[in-house]
Amino acid sequence: MVKIAPSLLAADFTRLAEEVLKVEQGGADLLHLDIMDGHFVPNLTFGAPVVAALRQVSKLPFDVHLMITNPQDHINAFIKAGADLITVHAETHPHLHRLLQTIKDQGVRAGIALNPSTPLVTIEEVLPYVDMVLLMSVNPGFGGQQFISTVLDKIRRLRQMITERNLPVVIEVDGGINAETAPAVIAAGATILVAGSAVYGAVDAAQAIASLKGLD
Ligand code: DX5
Ligand code: ZN
Repeated sequence: MVKIAPSLLAADFTRLAEEVLKVEQGGADLLHLDIMDGHFVPNLTFGAPVVAALRQVSKLPFDVHLMITNPQDHINAFIKAGADLITVHAETHPHLHRLLQTIKDQGVRAGIALNPSTPLVTIEEVLPYVDMVLLMSVNPGFGGQQFISTVLDKIRRLRQMITERNLPVVIEVDGGINAETAPAVIAAGATILVAGSAVYGAVDAAQAIASLKGLD
């Protein structure tokens, strides 16, 4: 039931293809790709050419998390690169309905992300148009940060909003997920957990993925 999306941000960048295959063979359900622009968040990562290159070596669904301003200018490049799911931040665009529709019109699943301080009401009107809501449980920009525990209540309230509206929307949580924080996140109603350091920092990635799923 619970899916794990290892974040490549915590991988060894000198061996990206191997690092992707390691989690693919280790039971990952999706690959989480953190795209940062040094503007919306205070850090830069990689862009569509890296995603396209990795598409050649992996069959995992690519979960592209855009932490960039002007996401509308880059969506097509990530779709062309092989994204299966594109998540945009609600804080980056005034016309979320149009933005999400642009993604979905091209046959790609669309997600909407919220920073820890952004209220759920921001996305209430677009909830029928998304496949996934990504709740950030750290301030985006860096891996290895500490889980913000007040997000647990936000997950519960979002789960309730989705249930009340009878929508097929899944909840993904990103930031500070490890074997200690995962059980509460799952109990609150998340079904996709992003994990960077907990998977790539572990000696055995497959074992780390199983333990996040609660299978060990
Ligand atoms: C943070 C990114 C996360 C990050 C998670 O801005 O969106 O996906 O890689 O890293 P950990 O799991 O180490 O907190
Ligand atoms: Zn992310």
